[in-house]
This record gives sequence, C-alpha cells and structure tokens, in this order.
Amino acid sequence: MSFYSLIIKPILFLFPAETAHRMIIKMLKLTSKIPLIGSIIRSCNNVSSPSLEREVFGIKFKNPVGVAAGLDKNGECFNELSDFGFSFVEIGSVTPEFQLGNPKPRIFRLPKDKAIINRMGIPCNGVRSVANNIKNVRHRTIVAGSLSKNSETSNENAIKDFERVFEMLYDFVDFFVLNISCPNVKDLDKLQDTDTLENIVNRLMSLRLFYDDNKPLLLKISPDLEKEQLDRIIELVMKSGLDGVVVSNTTRERISSLNTSPNELAQIGQGGLSGRPLFEKSLNLVRYVYEKTQGQVPIVASGGIMTPQNAKEMLDSGASLVEVYTGFIYEGPSFCKRILKYLKKCSQHQSVQSATKS
Ligand SMILES: Cc1cc2nc3c(=O)[nH]c(=O)nc-3n(C[C@H](O)[C@H](O)[C@H](O)COP(=O)(O)O)c2cc1C
Repeated sequence: MSFYSLIIKPILFLFPAETAHRMIIKMLKLTSKIPLIGSIIRSCNNVSSPSLEREVFGIKFKNPVGVAAGLDKNGECFNELSDFGFSFVEIGSVTPEFQLGNPKPRIFRLPKDKAIINRMGIPCNGVRSVANNIKNVRHRTIVAGSLSKNSETSNENAIKDFERVFEMLYDFVDFFVLNISCPNVKDLDKLQDTDTLENIVNRLMSLRLFYDDNKPLLLKISPDLEKEQLDRIIELVMKSGLDGVVVSNTTRERISSLNTSPNELAQIGQGGLSGRPLFEKSLNLVRYVYEKTQGQVPIVASGGIMTPQNAKEMLDSGASLVEVYTGFIYEGPSFCKRILKYLKKCSQHQSVQSATKS
C-alpha cells in the first residue's frame, strides 16, 4: 500500500470532497513556491521513453496521459499537476463570466465503487481571470482549454460565449476542447442535438483562420448519447474537420452493478457519475467512434481509467491519448507514473516478442 492510500487519502476523505479538492489545489500552489520542490517531484515521477511519445493533431506529447477537465478549473496549478508525470492538462471548463455553479454540496464520493458523482455546474472565475493565471507563468506542460458557456446564456446565444472564451484563451493554450456534454448545466447537452452545435463548431473553425497558428479544436461528447444522435455527431466531426473527440464526459446513468446502495444514491441525487463504473461505457464508446471514423479522427479517452491496464485498454481500442480525473483522486499522485511504467513495460515486452518472432 502506498503512503497516499495509507495516510493522505484517509485524511483527505475525512473532509467534504470539494474542501479536499480546494486543499489539494492550495497545497500544490504552496509547494510550487518552495525552491526545488517542483524539480524533485518532477524527477521522482519522470518516466520517459520513445515508446511513450506521441504526435497527435500536430502536437508532440512526451507520453499519452493527461489530466481531464475539472481538476484545474481556473488554470491555477497545471504546471504542478504536470510534475506528477502528465504530458498535458485540460484546464476549465472555462466560462466567459464568473459563475458560482450549483449549490453545495455538489461532489460526492462513492468509495465502494471508486467513483464520484458531481453536479458542480461549471463554477469558474471567468475567462479573464483564467487567462491572467495562465499567461503569467512559463508553461512546463501542454495546456488544453475546455470551452463552455455561462449557465444563464441560452443555447441560442451560446455561440457568443464559446467565441469569447476561445478568443481570450487562444494565445495561451495549445489546444481546445469544446464541452457541450456536461450533464450538470441545464440543457447544455441539448447542444449536442441541434444545428446550433454545427454553427458553433463552424464559427470556431473559421475564427481560428484569423490566427497564424492553427490550434486544434476537439469536441467532448457524453456517454449518454442515443445512437442516432451519436452518429450525427460523428458525421459532423468528419465533415467539419474537427481535430479530435474526447470520449467521454460523466454519465447520468446509475449503472446497475453499483455497490453503493440505491438509498445512498437517492440521497445524493442528480449528477454525473465518473470513475470505475464508467469504464466499460467509455471504452465501448471509444471503440465505436474509432470504428465509425475508421481511425481517422484522434480520440482522447476519458472515463473510468482507474488502473494502468484500463489506460492500455483504451489506447489499444483506438485512443491516441487518455485523460484521468477520478483515478487521480483514488489512486493518488503516483498514478500517472504507474500507468507510464506499465505502458513502457508492455511496449518493451512487445518489442522483445516481435524480435523473437523475426
Ligand atoms: C468534480 C468533477 C468536475 C468536473 N468538471 C468538468 C468540467 O468542468 N468540464 C469537463 O469537460 N469535464 C468535467 N468533468 C469530467 C471529467 O473531465 C472526466 O471527463 C470524467 O470525470 C470522466 O473521467 P474519470 O472517470 O477519469 O473521472 C468533471 C468531473 C468531476 C469528477
């Protein structure tokens, strides 16, 4: 058992999930101020190998593992998170104006399932504040900006919100993810179902033509899409020239095999489920999108990656990169390193096998 599982996690889990989250962010920001700490953490978690490197949508990643959106909502600690071995951090989701999100409590741990239910509703300090945070530091990692709209903005006017966040972050991030799949903002996921999505995508794609560099734009989808709706989105992705798909966000479904009792679930109420129970659903979706796009559209897998083997399975099923959130909370700071060591070992094993065969 690791020091994290034995000591740190039990202490953190004594606090409400959101308080623990704030404590982690504060701790990361604080430690970054202590000279040499960052480099020590970085060197302890460094696993490098040419077999881990990837070039995806024109960006070179030192390895395929990143941090999913929601952990660093305001771009406050992406460098510090990357010190744990991650090759990229998706910050946000970012909204144009400050918003509080839904009333607390709004994050719930399901330890029996190694899962989380959240209904954060995208709290954010607003794009101006996020842009200030990320432009004033030297980036040690690839940064993705997750784009969203303010909850009060109607879907008809959403395009202006997305445009604003896109433009204000353009010079400070490496790629973008359009988040229209959060289940905790009223009607946001309805954007997946309408022509509005096509308008938003087309608008952002044409806006970026005004810039000298072409920053990749990806779309994050929900695991709860009906097949017909999903097929339409895949068609849009292929047609519009979007650079990739993040598969997937949290699910509204309360998967039947949960160990958490129906009573506890009823007490928690609504929200998106992440972590172990989401894995099969996300994996199947990765396979489906890969097959439908004939491997032509890069996939970033997110959803229930709780073990190094889960990450490998996603990559073997067509994902070019993977992202973790809940796994990091349950498995701790060495999680990325464990994944990378496993992937490296698998590729060495494969090389030996193919050398023996030939
Ligand atoms: C507390 C919490 C907040 C999240 N906030 C966001 C968000 O702001 N934007 C977004 O696109 N996804 C958000 N997510 C979804 C994650 O990015 C990820 O896609 C999802 O949790 C599935 O991955 P996981 O099982 O590794 O956690 C959030 C997830 C959690 C648990």
